[in-house]
Amino acid sequence: MAHNPQAAAEVIREQAPGFQPRLALVLGTGLGALAETIEHPFIIDYGDLPGFPRAAVEGHAGRLMLGKLAGVEVACMLGRAHLYEGHPAADLALPIRALRLAGCDTLILTNAAGSLNPRFPPGSLMMLSDHINMTGVNPLMGANDERFGERFFDMSQAYDRELRRRLAVAATALGIILNEGVYMALLGPNFETPAEIRAFRTMGADAVGMSTVPECLVARHCGMRVAAISSLTNLAAGMTDEELSHEQSLAVGALAAKDLSRLLPEFLSGLSSDAA
Ligand code: HPA
Repeated sequence: MAHNPQAAAEVIREQAPGFQPRLALVLGTGLGALAETIEHPFIIDYGDLPGFPRAAVEGHAGRLMLGKLAGVEVACMLGRAHLYEGHPAADLALPIRALRLAGCDTLILTNAAGSLNPRFPPGSLMMLSDHINMTGVNPLMGANDERFGERFFDMSQAYDRELRRRLAVAATALGIILNEGVYMALLGPNFETPAEIRAFRTMGADAVGMSTVPECLVARHCGMRVAAISSLTNLAAGMTDEELSHEQSLAVGALAAKDLSRLLPEFLSGLSSDAA
């Protein structure tokens, strides 16, 4: 049965009384450590949020944490649904819409991805300048929900210029290298073939992964500002002699996760001091 995002937003209001998140954060594979630094968090299990996904992949938890992070009221998703798990694409819309209804106007997405760009090494971070949706599906397929946005909407500024500028400033302040590039989303669950990676390079992709784009589409549809960062866990298939594995993604991702755990608070404190 299809759930209404309003129901999940109400649970958030009930379980985090008096707290209004303004920024939503989705922490991807191996990137959950940052959530530990949320002050006095309200923690809600996805099982208590109607329509939120049951997280399935190792390295993903299934809970929402609400609280202040570097002075900003955040709602932090630990774990997300992936298309390769077999969720109908439309189901990926609900958590983002619930967080929109709960008060978030900004969405920061993170993920683990493979690098197609030899200048962007494993263990480094890449901020998304744009994306290519190669999943073959879209969470906004089906009847348009006019409460959230228009049927046809603009994606020429998918990743917000001002948020990107602020992320770049925060990275510079901390001495963290933050490259910018194009993320291509694929359905998965397999890693790509070398021939696919060669094709995707000619198409302009700097990184490949299996998430983020559906959430970005839903968020842009309902007018949220979006930024996204990939933790590059490996060079993509065929670029080295190594075989790819999820375990390796988690291990290398841990390096980038450390940088991300410094970068996001610095970025957030910039946002909170400007809002003050
Ligand atoms: N391909 C797709 N998704 C990924 C990869 C990759 O090489 N690494 C981490 N997530």
